[in-house]
Amino acid sequence: MDIRIFKTEQEIGEAAGKIYVDYINENPSCVLGFATGATPVPTYTYMAQQCKAGKVSFKDVKTFNLDEYCDLPKEHKNSFYMFMYDNLFSKVDLKPENIDFLDGNTDPVAESARYAKSIEDKGGIDIQLLGIGRNGHIAFNEPADEFSDEAYKIKLTESTIEANSIYFDDVPMPRYAMTMGIGSIMKARKIIFIATGKAKAQAVHDMIKGEVTPRCPASILQQHPDVTVFLDEDAASLL
Ligand code: F6R
Repeated sequence: MDIRIFKTEQEIGEAAGKIYVDYINENPSCVLGFATGATPVPTYTYMAQQCKAGKVSFKDVKTFNLDEYCDLPKEHKNSFYMFMYDNLFSKVDLKPENIDFLDGNTDPVAESARYAKSIEDKGGIDIQLLGIGRNGHIAFNEPADEFSDEAYKIKLTESTIEANSIYFDDVPMPRYAMTMGIGSIMKARKIIFIATGKAKAQAVHDMIKGEVTPRCPASILQQHPDVTVFLDEDAASLL
């Protein structure tokens, strides 16, 4: 793993965002996998700024996202789709037909097969962006007895519900989500991983220095050939 440590979230956003901008400029019809959550926001802000400044165009880029809540309308303000719309999709020249998202309100088995085929039909994901949960989850792959493969429906853990429920003020936080599986994430050609803050320090330690185990789903990244890790000093404090 290529581990890079920065002082501020903004510096990370700029450094990670620059990798995307350069990649898109070299590969205008690339396939990108995105993540939601607080961590990637500065990266999306940087990409949006560069697009607005005419330094990059997303017009032929195709995107997928890691996960989506179940039992929450796509248009609800807390859906991951709306998060992406607010933070990136509405600010760049991506074409709506090039945006694919897991549907958390349909049959999970059929949806998993559809998503896997859609990714394959577009040639696979070139760069997948990842954050990490305090319990070591990536996407919504929670600690488990075995590593998952393709997308599936998962019951969220109390740790994840506690971390994300701060965003829900009008409806209860969903208890289930559709998530890309570990197998699909590991197929991405390149992974950009970002973690910031003390609350992530233990998970980051276990991911990089711990044994590879589904009890810390992120630890599987030790076996991926191309992972660039962006950390602030707090997240790196136990390394
Ligand atoms: C969401 C996702 C999650 C988050 C993780 C960290 O698409 O993949 O694994 O990356 O829960 O969330 P934040 O960044 O809010 O701390």
